[in-house]
Amino acid sequence: MIFLGVMGSGSGSNLQAILDAIDDGRLEAEVSLVLSDNPEAYILKRAAERGIATDLIDCGQHLNKFPHNSQVATAAKLKAAQIDLVCLAGFMRLVKQPLLEAFPDRILNIHPSLLPLFPGVKAWEQALLAGAEKTGCTVHLVDEGMDTGPVLGQAEVAVTPGDTAETLHQRIQVAEHQLYPSVISRYGQRLARQA
Ligand code: GRF
Repeated sequence: MIFLGVMGSGSGSNLQAILDAIDDGRLEAEVSLVLSDNPEAYILKRAAERGIATDLIDCGQHLNKFPHNSQVATAAKLKAAQIDLVCLAGFMRLVKQPLLEAFPDRILNIHPSLLPLFPGVKAWEQALLAGAEKTGCTVHLVDEGMDTGPVLGQAEVAVTPGDTAETLHQRIQVAEHQLYPSVISRYGQRLARQA
């Protein structure tokens, strides 16, 4: 059994996909803690409705930055909850030391493109603007860069004629909801073998 901490700033559809995979036996794990930097984020509601512990990440007045002290506090919360693996799911701040140091090779992220193509925000719009014939999603280990860590898994999504940013993003999200739980499962088994 692997204990997951999930961090997100928004809707939490990937959290939902992880929970669904746990429910139907595709992922042997438990989500023990959900953290958000946004008190209004729907991810917190999804977690609370399910009885999962939630907490807020206080970043003070900083809109985008993840201040050092907030990262120290976040690492302490995740450690106190005995989290094995941290899953970023739409978390909109860049993770740096000391959170990375507290969870070496144990922080995953899902990104809506085939990295290294289209890192950063609104990757599906970047793909459309570039005239890409295909895009997709990537699960990777988090390092100090923006969407740059080692890739653990990818799924392709074709760009179809007439796609808008919305339709493309929706299809990428469907792919994300399959990919993330399966990579977490595989990576979790790898960690268990190393233990
Ligand atoms: C996903 O598209 C993910 O790739 C990106 O943020 C979005 C989060 O969506 N990093 P949700 O909050 O899981 O619905």
